[in-house]
Amino acid sequence: MAAWTTSSNEALTISLVRPTEDKASLGEEESYENFHPTFTYPIYGEEEKIYGYEGLTIDLRFASGSLVPYLSVNYSAKLPSTSTVDDVEGTLSQFIPSDYLTDETAFLAQVEQDGTTFKPSGQLIHSYVRLSPLAAANGKGKAAANTQQTLDSEDANAVVYEVYHTTWDTPGFREYHRRMQLFILLYIEGGSYINEEEDSWEFAVLYEKRKRQSTPGTSTYHFVGYSSLYPFFHFPESVRLRLSQFVILPPYQRQGHGSELYDAIYNYVLSQPTITELTVEDPAEAFEDLRDRNDLKMLLSHEVFISEAFGADTLSHGGGRVGGVGRAGRSGKGGVSKSAPGKMGPPVDKLWAENWRKKLKIAGRQFQRLIEILILSKLD
Ligand code: ACO
Repeated sequence: MAAWTTSSNEALTISLVRPTEDKASLGEEESYENFHPTFTYPIYGEEEKIYGYEGLTIDLRFASGSLVPYLSVNYSAKLPSTSTVDDVEGTLSQFIPSDYLTDETAFLAQVEQDGTTFKPSGQLIHSYVRLSPLAAANGKGKAAANTQQTLDSEDANAVVYEVYHTTWDTPGFREYHRRMQLFILLYIEGGSYINEEEDSWEFAVLYEKRKRQSTPGTSTYHFVGYSSLYPFFHFPESVRLRLSQFVILPPYQRQGHGSELYDAIYNYVLSQPTITELTVEDPAEAFEDLRDRNDLKMLLSHEVFISEAFGADTLSHGGGRVGGVGRAGRSGKGGVSKSAPGKMGPPVDKLWAENWRKKLKIAGRQFQRLIEILILSKLD
């Protein structure tokens, strides 16, 4: 790279800073600090380059719970100030709340304070338990790693995760959202800030909840990711909920948290009588995969759907996996050689499919896609 030019993606480091006590209990495999953005073009321009500095670092830290930001821009040399030298802090400051901290001592005091005072706001809609990464790496409870669902939240090696549903009316949430929305620009291609003037936005926010060793019975909370949702009202009183933005921060990716957040939103949709379907706005490929995987798992968990789809004997052949479904109807173990014809055809029984789609509140095109995947897996 030319002298005096720096990649803004490399210069910018993000940290989610935990209180000292919480940090002490983390293993080496758990690092929540110094990771990079995927995109900075909405901030520093299409080329994602900053001109005029040598040894430039942009240290953007967030208190892991309250997401109070701290910004420190450092460099070893800067060209004499001319109109061509980029204003690193001035540019970034337009995208974060104006009361961000620049005093490190004040920031670290905020982080410690978070440890005792920060609690998520909103309504708890989902929680789940995982083996802590440290315990998993140490091979503690190997069996438990395979049966995460049955891990007891009181287990010393367990970490609890919680999803909260919020709106603009949730106390303190407007300010909280102003701190977390930067992650949309940094991680979603084509992401942009939502319009705060639109009243209807809803959110699902995911937190990690860790037990405090020093004070039994208390916990600290750490931001993991979130999704913004927009309800479209249809006459007379039904709602289509559109999932608009969805992000899990890099230190938490590829551990199943995105799937849990998506399932939490889906189950929230099922639980609300006025919401008739969940749609997704312009999904990225990775999100499409996540959605397909979780929707298929959900579909295959409905035994009635499977037996209607593939014929009466499907379940005795181990339906429940896509592969298992694929073998339905052939003569196999159990000695069943023939099954009643299924509604999946081909051709698919359209009325039957539409009834299931409505019942499961899945968007039309997505349901068609799921049916196609199931048919293909059957033909395999
Ligand atoms: N260990 C290893 N891998 C795992 C584990 C585990 N314990 N659990 C799940 N995985 C794998 C999954 O099988 C999946 O693998 P695949 O990609 O090969 O299919 C992968 O990890 C991702 O699944 P999750 O862990 O459930 O999802 P994750 O938490 O990583 O979230 C997401 C995925 C949302 C795409 C995340 O990477 C992200 O936020 N990316 C940046 C922002 C983005 O692209 N957002 C979507 C934009 S679209 C929209 O907003 C509508």
